[in-house]
Amino acid sequence: PSSCGSWPYPSQSSCRLLSNLTLGICSPAGKTRESTKGGLKTFRCSHARLTEVPKDIPNDTHKLYLDSNRIPFLPRDAFRDLPLLLELDLSHNSIAGIESGAFRGLADHLRSLDLSSNRLVSLSKEAVGHLKAKVNLSDNPWLCDCRLQELIRAVALAAGSAGGIVCEAAALEEHVGKAFLQVIAHTDFCNAYKRTTDIAMLVTMFGWFAMVISYLVYYVRQNQEDARRHLEYLKSLPSKQRRSEESSTVSTVV
Ligand SMILES: *[C@@H]1O[C@H](CO)[C@@H](O)[C@H](O)[C@H]1NC(C)=O
Ligand SMILES: *[C@@H]1O[C@H](CO)[C@@H](O)[C@H](O)[C@H]1NC(C)=O
Repeated sequence: PSSCGSWPYPSQSSCRLLSNLTLGICSPAGKTRESTKGGLKTFRCSHARLTEVPKDIPNDTHKLYLDSNRIPFLPRDAFRDLPLLLELDLSHNSIAGIESGAFRGLADHLRSLDLSSNRLVSLSKEAVGHLKAKVNLSDNPWLCDCRLQELIRAVALAAGSAGGIVCEAAALEEHVGKAFLQVIAHTDFCNAYKRTTDIAMLVTMFGWFAMVISYLVYYVRQNQEDARRHLEYLKSLPSKQRRSEESSTVSTVV
């Protein structure tokens, strides 16, 4: 397969995309696989220096290999027109971002998704959480935090691939370089976050409480001052009137 043009797939526009390739293998290997693998069509575009997902992948493709390219980003609906896709290999690219909705339309049938050996630091569970596929997330520069924890809980990891999810960065130095599953065995990243919000709440409540107390103290002091001034005034009055007024004041103060 030296030139894409000699193949029935892909069509002209993606061949233009691939025409300047020297190493590229971009072939619908399905013809040869059809007989051996129960009619499953394979489309292979590995080592092809692709910088995006080709537009004209045949819509009856079952297995799609886009590994070992230079794809940096997966936009929304990147695979929308592949209603039969079962396996998708995107490993060994430079994917750093995946828009939520990138795998839209694949939820019901995709059974294997390889995102290993890319540049993923963080990925929201919305992007892949709805898939039933086994996902390989190993060998990416993961930031170990609550978001990754939520992601890991939302996806089914490919068998034996969990150990390859290693913390490249984390809030705590001791977690760097460790397998994420090992770390979350004794650290709950999401609860740690909750704890800090709890502390913030507590501090705020304490602040309000302190304000109320200081106002009460101020109020009592002010009243004592008034009462003292009133008593002094009564003392300066003639004694008969004073005694009667004093007793009434004392009873009100008490
Ligand atoms: C692929 O596209 C063709 C032409 O649009 C359509 O007739 C066919 O049903 C599609 N195949 C699948 C599997 O969706
Ligand atoms: C997951 O990806 C890693 C790194 O590319 C690879 O070594 C491993 O075999 C893959 N595991 C599975 C189950 O696909």
